[in-house]
Amino acid sequence: MKFSQKTAYLSSAIFAELKTRKNQRLASGKEVLDFSIGTPDLPPPRHVMDVIRQEIENPENYKYAIKDLPELTEAVIDWYQKRFGVSLDPEEVTSLLGSQEGLGHIALTLTDPGDVAMVPDPGYPIFMMGPMIAGARLYKMPLLRENRYLIDLERIDPTVAHQAKLMIVSYPNNPVTATAPPEFYEKLVWFAKKYDIAVIHDNAYCELIFDGPPGGSIFNIPGAKDVAVEFNSLSKSYNLSGCRLAFAVGNREIIGHLKNLKSHLDYGIFLPLQKAAIAAISGPQDCIRETVRIYRRRRDILVDGLASLGWQMDRPPATMFAWAPLPKSYRSSMDFTLELLDKTGVLVVPGSSFGDLGEGYVRFALVQPEEEIRKAVDAIKNSGILERDILSEQSRCAL
Ligand SMILES: Cc1ncc(COP(=O)(O)O)c(C=O)c1O
Repeated sequence: MKFSQKTAYLSSAIFAELKTRKNQRLASGKEVLDFSIGTPDLPPPRHVMDVIRQEIENPENYKYAIKDLPELTEAVIDWYQKRFGVSLDPEEVTSLLGSQEGLGHIALTLTDPGDVAMVPDPGYPIFMMGPMIAGARLYKMPLLRENRYLIDLERIDPTVAHQAKLMIVSYPNNPVTATAPPEFYEKLVWFAKKYDIAVIHDNAYCELIFDGPPGGSIFNIPGAKDVAVEFNSLSKSYNLSGCRLAFAVGNREIIGHLKNLKSHLDYGIFLPLQKAAIAAISGPQDCIRETVRIYRRRRDILVDGLASLGWQMDRPPATMFAWAPLPKSYRSSMDFTLELLDKTGVLVVPGSSFGDLGEGYVRFALVQPEEEIRKAVDAIKNSGILERDILSEQSRCAL
């Protein structure tokens, strides 16, 4: 059989390898402390689960939804107004079957094969995959620590910028955890208008900020709706990742084309889940504060615990991840990840799976309770895996 060339780059060799190694370890009776995938281990709000329980009893709710319930669109509009002070019209809102789905499809509405899409490197994988599925050419925008992981718009080649059709931007950022100040978004909107580029802002972690001001919306910048859409997910804010609930809002032309594309691909979100989304964004929001408190504690236990062993990393200001540079004597994030799993049972994601500039790092997802994080730190300490560093340091001193 002949398959498309796309199938080659769609195979996620790294994740398949990690899964195999994890299963082999479990099959041999050894423990795995899994910090790899960013799926929250925390429960959803009780009142949201109650809505799902009630609504699944109603046989009417098993029909094709086709569209968003008007009450859902209204709830999103109210939520944006209350949470960000941003006004939206119903034509500026669409649901998504998770942000992942929207990010996978939106490039089909904005690019033709060969068009340029600008994406961050390192970046959450679907940022590159979505445009690649659409046949776009990628222009990678480096996220560098020395630039606080902000995209350096001034360094983008103007010839490429003139060709680009879309640009994907996301702060607070997975995997590097950085946030971006309002001045960055002002420059971004100005840049997108100058070069006529659609901006897709993925705001999945706007609620999970530990230090600094609360997360905003790109639409807090005047004129942003002329060029941008924003994705917002309920997966991490409300621990609903399995429900596949997210929204895209903003520029009505882009939203219109996305809705139209989706009308050919899916028949909308299961109605009990649409009602759950309404309950989540319209109901009490204290669950978010509790989630932030828990991740902040986990972050501190991990960062301080590893620092006490001599493994230093920046303290993540946001998200549910930690982005750790490889201990000095390691070069390959994949080799280090496999050795770490083998010697300690701790499973992380190699930075190289987020793009070329992710090499040299590994990502921890803070999806284990405090005791498991402490156990992981102890396992790392007892394994001696960091001692290669001390030994190479000593041999350098001896020279
Ligand atoms: C930056 C970012 N965007 C989008 C997603 C996907 O979210 P959803 O569950 O809404 O598809 C994730 C999930 O980890 C993410 O980290």
